Amino acid sequence: MGAIIGNILVPGAPILEKVLRTVLVYAFLFLTILNNLHRQEFPPVICFAPIVRRDGSKKDTLHNIEATGEFVVNVVSEEFAAKMNVTSGEYPPDVDEFALSGLTPVASEVVKAPRVKESHVNMECRLMKIVPVSERPGGGCLVLGEVVRFHVDDAMVSEFAVDPDQLGAVGRMGGATYSRTVDRFELERPK
Ligand SMILES: Cc1cc2nc3c(=O)[nH]c(=O)nc-3n(C[C@H](O)[C@H](O)[C@H](O)COP(=O)(O)O)c2cc1C
Repeated sequence: MGAIIGNILVPGAPILEKVLRTVLVYAFLFLTILNNLHRQEFPPVICFAPIVRRDGSKKDTLHNIEATGEFVVNVVSEEFAAKMNVTSGEYPPDVDEFALSGLTPVASEVVKAPRVKESHVNMECRLMKIVPVSERPGGGCLVLGEVVRFHVDDAMVSEFAVDPDQLGAVGRMGGATYSRTVDRFELERPK
């Protein structure tokens, strides 16, 4: 488990966080995984932060998660990063962002929200808790979800771990700037 999570979570990594709308129209929110809170003895947990819009309203994604208690996190690779970007626009709740972006919905196995076919790693999640931080514009909350099913494309796996070169995950550095994960270095931790 650690090997899977260890190589797919990129600092500032955009993720496609996919939820099922009650009206059966799909919407995405591109978010950033804040941290990987998993431990061997604890279920894998994903955390991200939907912020409050300038007009003080909640993002659709948070509404949907509150309504359904489920969501899917889809890791973004460079090959479909431009499509990811399309879905990060502020569209009305009834817009089908799969159709708009050209990304493909596939049925999940445990949760009702579909996952994104183009993504090489999908994590089906159940809401654990929402931690309110601030209700003011620009504030928000932390959403913690337990991963109840991992989907990892076999082509991404090498020696029982996700190969970061195959995955080609991207990170977001702020504004419109993104980073690749191909230039890496290692530092051994002090004993
Ligand atoms: C790479 C990337 C990362 C983003 N990360 C976040 C985030 O962590 N929190 C957030 O509230 N919005 C984030 N956004 C903005 C949302 O994508 C945007 O507000 C969203 O599409 C609104 O969707 P919704 O109202 O349908 O939920 C991010 C956008 C991009 C392109």
